[in-house]
Amino acid sequence: MNKIFAANWKMYLNEQESLDFVSKILSNKHLFLSNKVMIFPSHTAISSVKSALQNLSNIQVGMQDCDIEMSGAVTGSNSINSIFVDSCIVGHSERRTIFKEDEKMIKQKLENSLKTVKSTILCIGETLEEKKQDETFKILDKQLSILPSTLNGKKLIIAYEPVWAIGTGLVASNDYIKEVLSYINNAIKSLYSDEILSNINLFYGGSVNESSVESLSTIPLLDGFLVGSASADFKKFENILKKMR
Ligand code: 13P
Repeated sequence: MNKIFAANWKMYLNEQESLDFVSKILSNKHLFLSNKVMIFPSHTAISSVKSALQNLSNIQVGMQDCDIEMSGAVTGSNSINSIFVDSCIVGHSERRTIFKEDEKMIKQKLENSLKTVKSTILCIGETLEEKKQDETFKILDKQLSILPSTLNGKKLIIAYEPVWAIGTGLVASNDYIKEVLSYINNAIKSLYSDEILSNINLFYGGSVNESSVESLSTIPLLDGFLVGSASADFKKFENILKKMR
């Protein structure tokens, strides 16, 4: 299966920079038509990015996060149905640490997203401290404990993003990722029917770049990547996709 590349632009690109990125995509249509790509711009740029990409319908556009509520008096926030998108990321480690999101909040966001959009990316992963304490699987168990009994026929992507690999240049080893993905795979197998499992993909994220992607893509069970900083630089993202041809 072709790998899926999800570009989490975080807060790197403003609206104009996002549009500049999209115009480069449009000038390299072939590369982007032959790969499965998802783009997660800042909330403020989603609408413009969607319009600019309307002729490249194979590229999905999503939200980087959504509120726990569907609507209401929540100044400055955005619910999952505030704009039409294909996908939404929930539980990103930056939301967990900077915004102090706990499992209860992430569960609510996951449910809202699964009710509303085609695919939801749930991010999980241990910190360096937790890894050192040999607590990785305990943490993953806790983070996976919020999985609902049904996915409402929607797609779920579980992105394993070890916190110590995010933005650090440190990429987890293939053996380590393999071990963790098998653990996650066994956990979801015990929860879901084969039909539901066919709607679940496993991703890796954390310092993925053009040098690491080729080797990482040989990992069994890995369906795709959640790319941060290298996805917000057109040349770097293009080089990642070119490696996969
Ligand atoms: P980096 O690729 O910048 O390490 O970020 C990974 C990430 O957090 C994607 O969601």
